[in-house]
Amino acid sequence: MAKQLLNSLLVLCFSTHGVQAQTSSSAPCSTTISPKYAAPSLAPGWEAMVVASGLTKPRGIIFDSNGHLLLVQEGHGISSLELRDNGGACVRARKLTDVIADNLNHGIELSTDGKTLYASSSEAVYAYDYDSSGARNTSAGRVVVNGMKHGGHTSRTLLISREVDGLLLVSEGSEGNLDKAATDITTGHSQIKAFNMTNVTSVPYDYAKDGLRLGWGLRNSVGVAEEPLTGAIYSVENSADEITRSGQNIHQDNPGEELNFHGYLNGTESNKQGRNYGYPQCYAVWNASTIPNNVNLKVGMQFAIGEQETTTGETVNDTICQNERVAPRLTFAAHMAPLDIKFNPSGTMAWITFHGSWDRSEPIGYKLSVVNFANGSPTEPANSSQAAIDIMSNSDISKCPNSCFRPVGLAWDSKGRLFMSSDATGEIYLISKSDGSPASSALLSTGLLPSNTGIVGAPSAMGSKGTAPEFAGPQKPWAMVIAAVMALPFA
Ligand SMILES: *[C@@H]1O[C@H](CO)[C@@H](O)[C@H](O)[C@H]1NC(C)=O
Ligand SMILES: *[C@@H]1O[C@H](CO)[C@@H](O)[C@H](O)[C@H]1NC(C)=O
Ligand SMILES: *[C@@H]1O[C@H](CO)[C@@H](O)[C@H](O)[C@H]1NC(C)=O
Ligand SMILES: *[C@@H]1O[C@H](CO)[C@@H](O)[C@H](O)[C@H]1NC(C)=O
Ligand SMILES: *[C@@H]1O[C@H](CO)[C@@H](O)[C@H](O)[C@H]1NC(C)=O
Ligand SMILES: *[C@@H]1O[C@H](CO)[C@@H](O)[C@H](O)[C@H]1NC(C)=O
Ligand SMILES: *[C@@H]1O[C@H](CO)[C@@H](O)[C@H](O)[C@H]1NC(C)=O
Repeated sequence: MAKQLLNSLLVLCFSTHGVQAQTSSSAPCSTTISPKYAAPSLAPGWEAMVVASGLTKPRGIIFDSNGHLLLVQEGHGISSLELRDNGGACVRARKLTDVIADNLNHGIELSTDGKTLYASSSEAVYAYDYDSSGARNTSAGRVVVNGMKHGGHTSRTLLISREVDGLLLVSEGSEGNLDKAATDITTGHSQIKAFNMTNVTSVPYDYAKDGLRLGWGLRNSVGVAEEPLTGAIYSVENSADEITRSGQNIHQDNPGEELNFHGYLNGTESNKQGRNYGYPQCYAVWNASTIPNNVNLKVGMQFAIGEQETTTGETVNDTICQNERVAPRLTFAAHMAPLDIKFNPSGTMAWITFHGSWDRSEPIGYKLSVVNFANGSPTEPANSSQAAIDIMSNSDISKCPNSCFRPVGLAWDSKGRLFMSSDATGEIYLISKSDGSPASSALLSTGLLPSNTGIVGAPSAMGSKGTAPEFAGPQKPWAMVIAAVMALPFA
């Protein structure tokens, strides 16, 4: 497997709109690797290149402190990709080594000191002692959280807080499309929880019983992220398929996928944290015009899909959905399937992977987008239908899903470069500015991200701390770039 990969490892820089992907700092890529299908279509000023191909369904990805790209290959385990770095956008895989052959499927994280590797199966979260110099685990897996075994949605996304030491967030999705068990808070289904790893013992945490609940009624929130300036926790939720209301099938454009806000981990009580976000009774409006018995529904408002009872026996209607459930902070087009969300270090953009639809006659999603943020919140209002700005998409979406890349996991390296996995094509991509500068520096370049609201990344985007969090690692040219931007006299 590793050998096969090596034989096919090459690098391809393909730029868009005639912009050449070279700068004085980045050597030209001497070799290229073709994308499995058509070259992606990119927003002006951006480029993408294939760093590795021939992988087995790569899902979650993360860099260790020695620059190895650790990846979960679904059903295969964790492998380490060593990269040859010729600077700028010219990065290619050098060697793939298996690290852990356990039956892991998606989630991967490292402790802040880089010495503990966390990974998940559908049932449990495991912790391994980890040596980044050799990219290997130095202990067997210890179960730290268990009790999540069920079918349906089986990825258990992991996130280690950078703000509150030792907290590990774990997201558990639903068992199937409309999971009644999720209406019972004691089941743990469709929830996001945080567990303290500092005091974890040989008796693992029980997902349903233990931990701090960040929310329930969250169908399948595969992407979870901590906003770097305020520590706000956000997740992206895959909402339901095949829904009907009043006997009408409204699933083509409803319900919307969601970006949800879950408060902070630092002990400050947020009125949202731990509350019910609606599933499986309440959903977010995407296309109000197709929803019957519709009194004033707008994008992002919650609506009920039927005479479903709560655990206390009351029937859930639109009024209850709107008054007693937490609405999304933003809503995206139905069925785009958001799988990861990662903030840039200055907290001005959240990058979101959309894996793409199956439950829609015209495919949708299959792309990498950004949402603009300022002061810890999206800049777009909750009723916006234009919050997601596309950066990289499949050039002919009518060919999806069969002949398309499908974005899954995102990872920043120590130089602020952004990497993305595509499980369907077995590829890792690097997404950069066309001049070879890293995605983290995007707000500086002449081609500011297209924005619905005006200036992106103005200093007002900086939170109370006033400094951008830094990546671990010796080289951080982009950190100076961010510092420079902060000093610019934007009004
Ligand atoms: C690494 O993890 C695997 C899977 O749990 C285990 O079999 C192996 O013994 C571990 N390596 C070391 C050095 O403990
Ligand atoms: C986690 O546990 C440690 C050790 O008991 C404790 O010092 C720390 O405050 C806990 N963290 C949180 C966020 O409760
Ligand atoms: C660890 O500390 C947290 C409080 O931060 C507590 O809720 C939890 O029960 C403790 N876990 C263990 C295993 O003692
Ligand atoms: C927690 O973080 C929020 C947002 O940054 C902040 O407003 C609040 O003061 C913090 N609380 C504590 C106890 O530090
Ligand atoms: C909403 O649905 C109507 C009717 O199918 C369609 O014409 C319109 O384009 C849709 N709008 C959006 C934003 O999906
Ligand atoms: C929704 O149900 C509640 C509680 O039964 C009721 O008070 C309210 O009037 C209902 N709203 C609508 C629009 O039917
Ligand atoms: C959307 O929300 C904003 C802010 O809450 C509000 O000013 C605006 O009127 C709303 N637009 C629509 C079409 O409802």
